[in-house]
Amino acid sequence: MCGIVGYIGPRDVTHFLLEGLHRLEYRGYDSAGVAVSSLGGIEIRKREGRVSRLAALLEEQPVSGLAGIGHTRWATHGVPSDTNSHPHTGGNGEVVLVHNGVIENYDSLRTQLQGLGYVFRTETDTEAIAHLVAHHLGEQIKLGSDINKDTCLKAVTLTLGRLKGTYGLAVLFRELPDLIIAARNGSPLVVGVGKGEYFVASDASPLVGFTDQVVYLDDHELAVITADNMDLQHRETGERAPSVQTLDQVSTDTDLGDFEHYMLKEIYEQPHTIENALRGRLDDDEATAKFGGLNLSAQELRRIDRIVLTACGTSWHAGLVGEYMLEEFARVPVEVEYASELRYRNPPMSDRTMVFAITQSGETADTLAAMRECKRKGLPTLAICNTVGSTIAREADGGVYLHAGPEIGVASTKAFTSQVTVLALLSLFFGRMRNLSYQAGKRFIYNLKSMPEVITKTLEVHEKVKHVAEKYAHANNFLYLGRLYNFPVALEGALKLKEISYIHAEGYPAAEMKHGPIALVDENTPSVFIVPKSGIYSKVISNLEEVKARKGPVIAIACEGDEKIAKLADDVIFVPDVEEYLQPLVTAVPLQLLSYHIALHRGCNVDRPRNLAKSVTVE
Ligand code: G6P
Repeated sequence: MCGIVGYIGPRDVTHFLLEGLHRLEYRGYDSAGVAVSSLGGIEIRKREGRVSRLAALLEEQPVSGLAGIGHTRWATHGVPSDTNSHPHTGGNGEVVLVHNGVIENYDSLRTQLQGLGYVFRTETDTEAIAHLVAHHLGEQIKLGSDINKDTCLKAVTLTLGRLKGTYGLAVLFRELPDLIIAARNGSPLVVGVGKGEYFVASDASPLVGFTDQVVYLDDHELAVITADNMDLQHRETGERAPSVQTLDQVSTDTDLGDFEHYMLKEIYEQPHTIENALRGRLDDDEATAKFGGLNLSAQELRRIDRIVLTACGTSWHAGLVGEYMLEEFARVPVEVEYASELRYRNPPMSDRTMVFAITQSGETADTLAAMRECKRKGLPTLAICNTVGSTIAREADGGVYLHAGPEIGVASTKAFTSQVTVLALLSLFFGRMRNLSYQAGKRFIYNLKSMPEVITKTLEVHEKVKHVAEKYAHANNFLYLGRLYNFPVALEGALKLKEISYIHAEGYPAAEMKHGPIALVDENTPSVFIVPKSGIYSKVISNLEEVKARKGPVIAIACEGDEKIAKLADDVIFVPDVEEYLQPLVTAVPLQLLSYHIALHRGCNVDRPRNLAKSVTVE
């Protein structure tokens, strides 16, 4: 995780660094810092906490210069503190750098460097990189070399050769104030190209409004940047010509509008984001879906006899909904794999297996690694992704964008419903290639088209949910229970509550609850039953009765007009009645709102929950 930025050129350096860090804060917010180099040396300002605290520090103690680097941190090694904040200094301050990633062999490097007399001031893995660069620079100087671009590059290259782990790095050198060296391995890095200026960032969002010309660094590449030139090097194979791409479709629509929090804004965007996911992808004449970027022929697609969906967190829950839909409509066997597991497993997969990596950010380290592993084995590997230009979107063989716009709230909401929408489209698409009838395809399309309006209607539950949240906000344990299509929604509802209100919550298939979680049920443990009309409605009702019999309070998410449930549950939140396979889009909404309001009642930071980050770029 962590976000890094850099700038070299004629602008006010800290202006870009701060703006960039604000836009990257979703990657971590334990601390923030900048280093700015000028002819007088390198000045560092850093502070534990949010970027706004760093901005306040810079107001009190401004800095200006020729080049600068910045960092927003999600702590991995060492507690969040002023001292452990980046940038970090190597040697006696001749090298200053910021780092995104994890150095696995930092401990042994630290011991070696301490043996050579280097003094460590922090608990971070990053400090070892800084001292190592300073060390390799010093070694060259001892042999009579000057400090120049080449010696700095050699010092960084030698250092990288000794690192085990992942890094996105930006390095400043005290003696060369108009130089930044950036490097990447496993953590994303993009260089923005301006006129007489260059920008560095972990993703393209900080560049919007500054330049639309970008160069994406690949693993093991370094960029040696001065205000009027950039050389791109591969650490082992030498120079490569930078391929400059034009950035498009990156939106920085990060205005809160009238909303108090991004999470609430994003919940309310869902009618619109679902519409965006559907736009241009429905083929009424053929009663199917169409995609521009699958990059596989109809013949290749028809050969597919198994689909693997891989993801993390909320995206994994969307995958579970996808499994149910794809198996029901496309009749293809589907497996949903945690990316963190898949990357190290070796399940048998034939060349007729197709893989989809599902990811909002397109940068989740485990999802990327799992995708690469599948690609290595020659499987068609596609992405269902929100972030245009992200590493996963670029490396996938093809894919489908969500077009949901930036999701800022750490707890994912609109990305989930967009992912489910795209998976529904894929189910229709594969279904129509196989055994779904024209009429069934038509009906599917009709239902999908109605969803934006249905979700608008669903949002009318807001006031009711507020009251329910107030009533139960004191509880310390929750169960979320649902069956079939609403089982993944139960998992997602429980995850939302855990993430932002720090309440222990478990999601379970409602009937499976009898095999353990029912022991938790008492008058202080509310159970949220997701029980819309379905083929097994009465079975879920029986599970609900089992909880009531043990004095457990029940909150039900049920279909409008369901009078039976009103008598059984303590509180009911009524949602529109839709076909079973589309219920997750509807039932997820009140659960998002429930977690939001419970978190508010408990005084939690809804958009920036503790210990979490929006994009998990470490393993
Ligand atoms: C983090 C976020 C979650 C997200 C998960 C996967 O844990 O806090 O909201 O679901 O990463 O992220 P991705 O960007 O790959 O969907």
